[in-house]
Amino acid sequence: MSPVSTPTTICVTGAGGFIASWIVKLLLEKGYVIRGTVKNPDDAKNNHLRELEGAKERLTLCKADLLDFESLREAIIGCDGVFHTASPVTDDPEQMVEPAVTGTRNVIVASAEAKVKPSGRYLCTESVLHRGEVVEILAKFFPEYPIPTKCKDETKPRAKPYIFSNQKLKDLGLELKTVKQSLYETVKSLQEKGHLPVQPTQTDDIRIRS
Ligand SMILES: NC(=O)c1ccc[n+]([C@@H]2O[C@H](COP(=O)([O-])OP(=O)(O)OC[C@H]3O[C@@H](n4cnc5c(N)ncnc54)[C@H](OP(=O)(O)O)[C@@H]3O)[C@@H](O)[C@H]2O)c1
Repeated sequence: MSPVSTPTTICVTGAGGFIASWIVKLLLEKGYVIRGTVKNPDDAKNNHLRELEGAKERLTLCKADLLDFESLREAIIGCDGVFHTASPVTDDPEQMVEPAVTGTRNVIVASAEAKVKPSGRYLCTESVLHRGEVVEILAKFFPEYPIPTKCKDETKPRAKPYIFSNQKLKDLGLELKTVKQSLYETVKSLQEKGHLPVQPTQTDDIRIRS
């Protein structure tokens, strides 16, 4: 990847997390200057970030908690863009809702103060699936890929989906694509952009039923 011409500073919240670590890696490869927020920069679990290519020169880890507005403000001020991925990942709504809702509001307010312009798409979930259901759908649509269809927790009953509802979005008139269609279109788009190899055996006559 070619480096960006003018260094642009991007904040990535929850930088040590699974998704954020990939974002940090890819942004560093593209030449961006990164401020990654973590709850504790001295925690060894964030060491992998410091080993990324370009990290020495262009990655700063900032201590921030989603419920501490000032800490987020300090991390975001002076940034041109923000990827907000920090969130407790748990099935317990009590642990998740407060940091997710208040934390996201804090990030949005701090970003607005820093004059970060929102851009891109808004993705709203149509339904919540167990990871096993996601791979089953993908394996059916794209049998030519080596998609695992067994989960390590398959001997136990599957965890139930979150009890959250998207009814408010539907009441606002939002029409949501089915998850099956979204997954199908995501893979097709990744193929078209050259991120996934197109297998010669693949046929395009798959019908999507909700
Ligand atoms: N991974 C997936 O396949 C997937 C798919 C769809 C959606 N998502 C969503 O994407 C987001 C990130 O997922 P992930 O898989 O990357 O999760 P993850 O690896 O658990 O990362 C979440 C990060 O958020 C940080 N965090 C949690 N609570 C925080 C708080 N109060 N203040 C500051 N940071 C906090 C965590 O830090 P600590 O580790 O220090 O707690 C961690 O670094 C989540 O909202 C998840 O629901 C993920």
